[in-house]
Amino acid sequence: MGEMVEREIQAYSPDLVIVTGDMTSWSTRREYREAAKWLRGIESPLLVVPGNHDIFWWNPFIQIFDSHCNFNRYIQHLTQPIFKRKKLTILGVDSTARFLFGMGYVSGSERSRLKAQLERIPMDHYIIVAFHHNMLPVPGTGMNTTALFNYRKMLNILQTYRVDMVLNGHRHAFHIQLIDELERDKLKMKATDSFHPQIIVTCNSTTSSRYRGNIRENGYNVIQIMPEHVEIHQQIFDPTENIFVTRRSDRFKNLKIQ
Ligand SMILES: [Fe+2]
Repeated sequence: MGEMVEREIQAYSPDLVIVTGDMTSWSTRREYREAAKWLRGIESPLLVVPGNHDIFWWNPFIQIFDSHCNFNRYIQHLTQPIFKRKKLTILGVDSTARFLFGMGYVSGSERSRLKAQLERIPMDHYIIVAFHHNMLPVPGTGMNTTALFNYRKMLNILQTYRVDMVLNGHRHAFHIQLIDELERDKLKMKATDSFHPQIIVTCNSTTSSRYRGNIRENGYNVIQIMPEHVEIHQQIFDPTENIFVTRRSDRFKNLKIQ
């Protein structure tokens, strides 16, 4: 599956490949070496954030002293923390938490770093923020709760800085949720002077055979940011034909770039 995905990426030759975490199961050096080898084979620039499985979730001792040691050693140098292209900015955030049994938490220092970065982005830029844990439930996964302990804080930061799109992994299932004013009221988000609609996109398991709930398929998303609109294409692996096919395409108005 990994080789097939690599060929797909080569065919698209995207400006950026975003990996939203859980590249390993146990954070071992062997797994990380394999993940790093696969990532090095990708010719496009990479933006990689860690998932809960990438930080020694099973070993409290290593968690205390150096939970990110293998991520830092094998992946950090391959990823860029920020991607800028014309009027598009993409940021990565670490949502992994020690001692929360897989649940996410964006730390105070990580939130400060994110806010400092967002403050510097011009108002007319399309902004995408990628992190592993889902702020809202993903249907079909059998998990009807948030995966991010302080999701309200993150929703408010993302709204304050008019972030346009959020990319998540974790739940192993494709989902698009539009945060419009109706959803904002349901979520009891802080009212802002001018509400900014946001798109939250969750990705399928791309190469892993670990699935959640009744979603048992591999896939990835192709996202195109254009001056007038944004397109999200869900690519799903079809085992009968042994190829990836486009399951669905969604189009949203680009509210930033006029
Ligand atoms: Fe995860």
